[in-house]
Amino acid sequence: MSDLDYDLLQSQLRTLLTGETDALAATSNFVALLFTTLDDVNWLGVYVLRGHELVLGPFQGKPACVHIPVGKGVCGVAASARTTQLVADVHEFPGHIVCDTDSRSELVVPLLVDDELIGVLDIDSPSLARFTDADQRGVEQLCTVFCDLLPRASGLFI
Ligand code: SME
Repeated sequence: MSDLDYDLLQSQLRTLLTGETDALAATSNFVALLFTTLDDVNWLGVYVLRGHELVLGPFQGKPACVHIPVGKGVCGVAASARTTQLVADVHEFPGHIVCDTDSRSELVVPLLVDDELIGVLDIDSPSLARFTDADQRGVEQLCTVFCDLLPRASGLFI
């Protein structure tokens, strides 16, 4: 059950990112805002698409796997299918990649700019079935705002 005010979070994100010209700074603040606002989350970060793999980008939590092939694990499937993966129990997800053994449920949202995949946002929780459909919708909208406001000219997503 989530009673998070996603509309408020969305306006905070707009305030944080509007006028920012550096993609690394914008992504770092995006991740920090969400990690410090969502409860019951042990890891939250962005994986950046580089060729045929996802590479670890700005995150909060324990050190994590650095390279994930597109199509592998929850993140890789979100990237290849370009659809959000809401996983109630990661142990039931075939090919789930264990980075933090505390993680029990996961929400991964593809990041699309002009209909092109640039990476994924990965959110992990130590609780089973932590994420609701409302969380999925709210986080997807935040990702859309992030992608809309992401500075295009500076390198992080290349
Ligand atoms: N569990 C993910 C890997 C990334 S970590 O959770 C940070 C996956 O299966 O894609």
